[in-house]
Amino acid sequence: MKALTIIGHPLVQAKLTRLRDRRTSHAEFRRLLGELAAPLVYEATRDLPVHPVRLRTPVAAATGVELRREVLLTPILRAGLGMLDALRPLLPEARVGFIGLARNESTLLPEWYLDKVPARLDEFEVLVLDPMLATGGSAIAAGELLQSRGARNLCFVHIIASAAGARALARRFPKARIVVAAVDARLDKRGYIVPGLGDAGDRACGC
Ligand code: PRP
Ligand code: URA
Repeated sequence: MKALTIIGHPLVQAKLTRLRDRRTSHAEFRRLLGELAAPLVYEATRDLPVHPVRLRTPVAAATGVELRREVLLTPILRAGLGMLDALRPLLPEARVGFIGLARNESTLLPEWYLDKVPARLDEFEVLVLDPMLATGGSAIAAGELLQSRGARNLCFVHIIASAAGARALARRFPKARIVVAAVDARLDKRGYIVPGLGDAGDRACGC
């Protein structure tokens, strides 16, 4: 899977370990979601195109760079919201679109309840944020909506993916990047990632 990047950095893996632990409180869980989102998004934005700019420092003329395209951050509610706040210092100019999807507990299929994404996305670098990629159904539904709005530069940022979910997402969006902190082996009968971390939305919201 060429497009998949797993961040094995020890600081990321140590935070992930605490995120997985069932003893972690919802307050700490939320904080860890944000702390993990930042290094994943650093990696996800590594190849963003830039153009050169000229400036003067107090000492001399210099050259630097600016991002060539605007960034749209797209958290999938609810759990994706936990990744958003920590990204504001990193990408203060980013625009934010919201996607509301809830996985039906019987069919495991995602059901739409909110689409607050701009109508035209051709000029954006689009990052989808959701801690969990389980069957892949929610990320694929989000990606299809974003592509239907013209998004050409898509990157999916997840904390834990299942192997099957990562494969399904890469098959559906072969040009997109997928950045994760871990790929877990399997899903259980209820569609939970094993070992995973449980229900990310419930743990982040505390209910
Ligand atoms: C979770 C998670 C993903 C989805 C992953 O959300 O945050 O959006 O499940 O599962 P999938 O890959 O099989 O589609 P959920 O639908 O439980 O909503 P919540 O965040 O509001 O709890
Ligand atoms: N959604 C979650 O929050 N956790 C899982 O393990 C699978 C889907």
